[in-house]
Amino acid sequence: MNNKVITKAKRNNIKDIVKIHKKCVVETNADTYDPKVIKTWLEQINEKNVQSQFDSTSWIIIKEDKKIIGFAQYGLEDQTIYQIQIDPDYQGKGYGKKIFLWTMNKAKTLGYRNFRLYTDLEDNKVATELYRKVGMIEEPYIGEDMSPYKFVIFSKNLYSNKTEKIGNRNLFLKHQEEIQNRAAKDLKKLINLKHS
Ligand SMILES: CC(C)(COP(=O)(O)OP(=O)(O)OC[C@H]1O[C@@H](n2cnc3c(N)ncnc32)[C@H](O)[C@@H]1OP(=O)(O)O)[C@@H](O)C(=O)NCCC(=O)NCCS
Repeated sequence: MNNKVITKAKRNNIKDIVKIHKKCVVETNADTYDPKVIKTWLEQINEKNVQSQFDSTSWIIIKEDKKIIGFAQYGLEDQTIYQIQIDPDYQGKGYGKKIFLWTMNKAKTLGYRNFRLYTDLEDNKVATELYRKVGMIEEPYIGEDMSPYKFVIFSKNLYSNKTEKIGNRNLFLKHQEEIQNRAAKDLKKLINLKHS
């Protein structure tokens, strides 16, 4: 049986992290995203950029038989998952879900009540399926006018499987406006890129 391990990433894993990320962009994301977006992402994915975020955010890796096959980056302070990347040769085998649930469990053991991420619903259908599968609920991003792109927030209450909806609003998202506004700047940049 294959031996799978999830651990905190170390600086000497950065090279593999960058390699997997680029491979995902070229082999997985390039099918659905605009070539201009892909080109910009590839320019931004490098060891220097990961190094610069290595201490301010949390990075974990998943290994199969000692080989790194995926990673995730999240921010406990923001209670947000920034990215999950699974080597395309290993996608569709449950690793994405495993690393996702590990991260949420970590947040819970550290006392956080919920966890979230921001995404554009249209482009990455596999990822959004995964978020739904782990019990996240979604609502449109309301921090800024994102039209015509459909940005959404996926979030999950770590203490209850209830969706906690009132009308069409998710109860616990009311308290997240400040965090949403902080992320709005980054999302706006992405939208401008898509328009150009
Ligand atoms: C998105 C990603 C992390 C998912 O990881 P994965 O290991 O391939 O996914 P899993 O095998 O754990 O599957 C989890 C769920 O996703 C859905 N899914 C997986 N592959 C799918 C496919 N090809 N088509 C449709 N749904 C799919 C399924 O619902 C699955 O749950 P199930 O197996 O219980 O039915 C991975 O595909 C990836 O790294 N993609 C490129 C990078 C990226 O876009 N990351 C997300 C944004 S940062």
